[in-house]
Amino acid sequence: MSGHEFESWFPDSGGIDYEDTATAITDATVEEMRQIAARYPQPRSALLPMLHLVQSVEGRISPAGVRACAEVLGITTAQVSGVATFYTMYRRRPGGRHHVGVCTTALCAVMGGDHLLDRVCDKLGIHEGETTADGTFSIERIECNAACDFAPVMMVNWEFFDNMTPAKADELLDALAAGTAVKSPRGATLTSWREAERVLAGFPDGRADEGPTAGEASTLGLRVAREKGWRAPDAPPPVPTPTDEASDNQGGAA
Ligand code: FES
Repeated sequence: MSGHEFESWFPDSGGIDYEDTATAITDATVEEMRQIAARYPQPRSALLPMLHLVQSVEGRISPAGVRACAEVLGITTAQVSGVATFYTMYRRRPGGRHHVGVCTTALCAVMGGDHLLDRVCDKLGIHEGETTADGTFSIERIECNAACDFAPVMMVNWEFFDNMTPAKADELLDALAAGTAVKSPRGATLTSWREAERVLAGFPDGRADEGPTAGEASTLGLRVAREKGWRAPDAPPPVPTPTDEASDNQGGAA
């Protein structure tokens, strides 16, 4: 390990495996990293989408991907690793073709999220954090995805599946295993997790507008308010800030 690589104090927590030397990163990948970096006034702001690009190519955050990001951005591999190991959307181990997330935060838990997660794990024969032997599915327990009005929710490749039940989960997983086209009720037709990662890197696949912009449960309050003629009270006048007062005084002096 070079002096710039990040050494975790928690070696069992799933850090980046620096023994893993396999890589599919090519010159074309590095060129795409440069394209992403060029979109930002501060190149290092591009690190998050660049890591998604690494995942789309490697199926995980690989040591080679970390080094490529560091080189393009002119930062250390420790800085890249620090980001890649902080956010849960970055995987340190290879996932499946379809990455399944089940929300078990408060509202989804109340509506059966834990039961749903157990059912999905049982059906796939794996535990959370694992990938099926054939590489088709991986599964993860996820935190609130801001879709509580559709609880309990599952995600596949970051697309929502709302108001889930164990029976609906069975049906969804069977369709994906059979290679049948599956459409998210509020999103696009599913691709693979890697293809979805490429979109998150900033390379659109043209499917962004396939689904509705908001579901009925999210807009119900707005519809009721319109029907009843309700509206928010007018905002109070803004309170002057010290900066406003200083600039007023300067204007007066001139
Ligand atoms: S608690 Fe599951 S989406 Fe909010």
